[in-house]
Amino acid sequence: MQSTSEDERERGDLFLSSPITFIAVVAIDFGTTFSGFAFAFNNKDGEKSIHMNKEWGTDQGYSTMKTPTCLLLNPDKSFNSFGYEAQDRYADLEEEEACQYFYFDSFKMILHNNENLNRNTTLEAGNGEHMIALDVFKYSIKYLYTRALEVIQERTGDENFGMSDVQWVLTVPAIWKPAAKQFMREAAYQAGLACPSNPEQILIALEPEAASFYCMEQKMRDFVAESGTNDALVTDTIARIETQYVVVDIGGGTLDVTVHELLENGGIRELYKATGGTFGGQNVNRQFRILLETIFTKSFIDHYARQNPVDWLCLMNDFEVKKRGKRICEGGTTRIRLPGSFISKFPSHKGWDINTAIQQHCSLDEIKVVRNEYLCLEPKVMKQLFNPVMDDIISHLSNLFAQPELSKVKFAFLVGGFADSAVLQKRIKKHFGQTYRILVPQYASLAVVQGAVMFGQKPHKFESRIMTTTYGIRVLKLFLDGLHPESKREIITGIPRCKDVFFKLVKANEEVKVGEKRRFTGFAPVTGEQQQVKVDFYQSDRSDVEFVTDPEVLKAPGPGLVLETPEAWKTKDIEINLLFGGTEIKVTAVNLTSNQQSTVYLDFLASS
Ligand SMILES: Nc1ncnc2c1ncn2[C@@H]1O[C@H](COP(=O)(O)OP(=O)(O)OP(=O)(O)O)[C@@H](O)[C@H]1O
Ligand SMILES: [Mg+2]
Repeated sequence: MQSTSEDERERGDLFLSSPITFIAVVAIDFGTTFSGFAFAFNNKDGEKSIHMNKEWGTDQGYSTMKTPTCLLLNPDKSFNSFGYEAQDRYADLEEEEACQYFYFDSFKMILHNNENLNRNTTLEAGNGEHMIALDVFKYSIKYLYTRALEVIQERTGDENFGMSDVQWVLTVPAIWKPAAKQFMREAAYQAGLACPSNPEQILIALEPEAASFYCMEQKMRDFVAESGTNDALVTDTIARIETQYVVVDIGGGTLDVTVHELLENGGIRELYKATGGTFGGQNVNRQFRILLETIFTKSFIDHYARQNPVDWLCLMNDFEVKKRGKRICEGGTTRIRLPGSFISKFPSHKGWDINTAIQQHCSLDEIKVVRNEYLCLEPKVMKQLFNPVMDDIISHLSNLFAQPELSKVKFAFLVGGFADSAVLQKRIKKHFGQTYRILVPQYASLAVVQGAVMFGQKPHKFESRIMTTTYGIRVLKLFLDGLHPESKREIITGIPRCKDVFFKLVKANEEVKVGEKRRFTGFAPVTGEQQQVKVDFYQSDRSDVEFVTDPEVLKAPGPGLVLETPEAWKTKDIEINLLFGGTEIKVTAVNLTSNQQSTVYLDFLASS
């Protein structure tokens, strides 16, 4: 296709339905380590409260607002259980039996920065076998929404309350690529949550955006270390019109940061594109494993974890509980229970006992095993486990705060489960506390899920976003000597053309209004013989790409757009329209001469 086009912008329709048409809004926060849901009703006058399932894990001796993101499938790959129940049942299996079952945890990370993500991507279960990732997500989402419907039915006594009464909201990290976001939507459809013919029933909420919403609705006394009697709302005190602030969501898997500005009409605008990385709380657990590998050798730990998956899970779960303790900051020793199998299987070569092995690496004043059962770590050692990920977070935030776009930012909200960590709070406040006011909600790990309900109630509150990706199509242009490289010159029907030009429909770092429609005119087939044109889409993280053959440009998977074009070459009458609807992009090509048109939602998931 050739182009002589310049773009025009106009405001189009939102492809969002009104959430008020549903009885309730239910948000599912599908986390790397913990998942949960929250809901609110639309029909009760003045009723603003957001409800949560407060009873996760009561049968297992827990009572928490979220449940671990763990899935257990039977040997025939049918659903067995999710969350605490899955952990518990897996732990109850004999070791040989456990190897027949498929146990998955931390699997959300497969969607992060996975260039090859597609519908056939697989995940490795605890037993080393592979399964289609989409199925693992499908079972998990199905469990969560079914539980949500049950809880609402129990609370309302309305047995008829069902799927179609709900505006569903699914959360995803803002830094995810479009393919990963689309993957969650597809998994939801496959799980039976709404259907592709009614896409508006599922809203995709970006996690830090949801948290931003939540924080703005809080009172000052709802934040850690703020005055316990301060009843004033955030929006009445520190956050006024034009206030700019940062939302730092630190979960189990990802650090996800957005920068927002409050608008005069009460809306929120994104000021800087979402940034982050894999700097979540699980890195502390990973450091703990590395410590064990250093002391007890990597081969022993690898072998032990593979042969004793259940005991290994108990050991890591105990670490997970203990790392949250205040002891680390208060100077107390952290005690982690080593399973009996660990002690008995540790090879006492050279006649050493376990503490002699430890002494080869560090002083027993720092790490030792007592009563042949408890691994005791002094605060210094525990803090060292936190340091690498905290360094990454500090360095990321320092770079971000140094950007000129953030010069007016005065405060930051810290949310996500890892933000509950006293060690992390102390370090961030020490580093940034002089320059920025750091606000941590009392229940930092629930900010996303509750904020996602608020987002579902008012999705239009976010008025504009900053694109993280450049999208475009491949076109031919008239070859201009001196401007275009000789290698791209091609003579077509006697006219010199420049081939492979990346025609940018939208650029990374560009601000795009939700519901914005962009119109690009003046496209045409290259020759009169062409009866149809095929429009392929390309993408890049960079905004300055020129050719589709440049490094860092990828062809977007999917079928592209096909348009019948007899005669259109004469009139240059092909138009391309883009509609930005929240987190998705709809593209339509129109032949104005014949009025024939073809539409696609950019498909980021095809396997070729
Ligand atoms: N008090 C605490 N101290 C230290 N770490 C904590 C504390 N509370 C929670 N965490 C850590 O926070 C993480 C869980 O946070 P959260 O529930 O927000 O993550 P998630 O939603 O599962 O992950 P993500 O948002 O990255 O997908 C876990 O790694 C957990 O160990
Ligand atoms: Mg999260």
